[in-house]
Amino acid sequence: MKVTLFGTGYVGLVTGACLAEMGNEVTCVDVDMDKLARLKRGEVPLYEPGLEPLVRRNQANGNLGFTINAAPAVASAMVIFIAVGTPPSEDGSADLSHVLAVARTIGQHIRQYVVVVNKSTVPVGTAEQVRAAISEQLAARGAVVPFDVVSNPEFLKEGEAVEDCLRPERIILGSESARALAVLRTLYAPFNRNHERILVMDARSAELTKYAANAMLASKISFMNEMANIAERLGADIEQVRRGIGSDPRIGHHFIYAGAGYGGSCFPKDVQALRRMARGRAYEPLVLGAVEAVNHAQKLKLYDLIRRHFAGQLKGRTVALWGLAFKPDTDDMREAPSLYLMRALWDAGATVRAHDPQAGDEARRICGERADLVICDHPYQVLEGADVLAVITEWKLFRSPDLARIRDALREPAIFDGRNLYDPEAVEHAGIAYYGIGRGRSL
Ligand code: UGA
Repeated sequence: MKVTLFGTGYVGLVTGACLAEMGNEVTCVDVDMDKLARLKRGEVPLYEPGLEPLVRRNQANGNLGFTINAAPAVASAMVIFIAVGTPPSEDGSADLSHVLAVARTIGQHIRQYVVVVNKSTVPVGTAEQVRAAISEQLAARGAVVPFDVVSNPEFLKEGEAVEDCLRPERIILGSESARALAVLRTLYAPFNRNHERILVMDARSAELTKYAANAMLASKISFMNEMANIAERLGADIEQVRRGIGSDPRIGHHFIYAGAGYGGSCFPKDVQALRRMARGRAYEPLVLGAVEAVNHAQKLKLYDLIRRHFAGQLKGRTVALWGLAFKPDTDDMREAPSLYLMRALWDAGATVRAHDPQAGDEARRICGERADLVICDHPYQVLEGADVLAVITEWKLFRSPDLARIRDALREPAIFDGRNLYDPEAVEHAGIAYYGIGRGRSL
């Protein structure tokens, strides 16, 4: 099938490459010339396991192409995906200007029936706005071309995006058009094997499903972080509590890890946008407000522990930091807890020596050259001249540390374990003070 895809960000590029992998003829359109030039050379501008070989393979076999030229790509497509960004506006609502600009472009160039698919995370009601924007352009051209708009939210996770896209848990199709649904059932057939994954619903419910899923996951995390703060004060260990509650299948073991707070491009933005949507209809969502507030405080949790350890005297101290990315297997630092920790440490006069397997360049780009940030190429290099070590991203590389080496290198051996990776007793046995999240011994 001929598929055109607008936007070569995370969602667009992964979706395009996976659709090409299934034998479709996919054209990705973007407005960023530099990015397109890199993609044409087979360079993927983000770190995502498995994506680069997939892009290269499908470019080589002619299934995947990249262009700035929207008109021919729109005119020849059977299905057009909109996967451009919806960054938060100043007031926290999702900025739809890119989505609607693409809709207008589609309206200007379609020649035959197409299914327009919204993959971007968009506020409830956007499918109707996209439909109106396309219709307006058709009317301006004096053209009558049939089309449908379907809401088909994406649920992939960074770091596991290719796997999630090739083997989705569910495929949500928000549309009441039998014609559009038939086209998308055919397109998604290779992703819908062994058992039925397609859920059909109306467009508004599909749009809300995306926000509800992310808000539920963010709530689980904030709930556990709140439990961790309670456990810490009551002398209990959140890790034991986690195992205890996760064994109830109604609760489950996933997404109940207390830590240094959630980051990334999705949870913070989507929880905020959902709150805005509710407020727009005169409803104040109390749970969502608490989820955000807990997360905000949690991002400074490690800082609070470090500050307490040094009795508030951080000036001239050096903190070694393992991890910069908002989670492992990505170089993404959007809303990363590491940024909140580093900024608080810098404000207090401390220096940070950090290592991350992928996000070093991104940190340099965001933070710029500064004397109080040293990015090291090797995990143990961060320890040179450092007082203590904080761990904020759970990369596999940090899971089995050489404790003796850490103890010998640090001036005041202490580990601040922002992801509860280590056994407190083993760390203390090695002669290192241990601080975790909600582990009954930090306060
Ligand atoms: C999230 C969702 O998991 C995806 O299903 C969704 O498609 C995506 O947002 C999106 O809307 O595009 P992602 O942001 O890539 O995916 O990352 P997650 O793996 O969900 O992690 C988010 C944050 O929560 C990370 O900072 C992670 O460290 C934190 N987290 C996760 C916890 O603190 N505790 C947990 O138990 C799980």
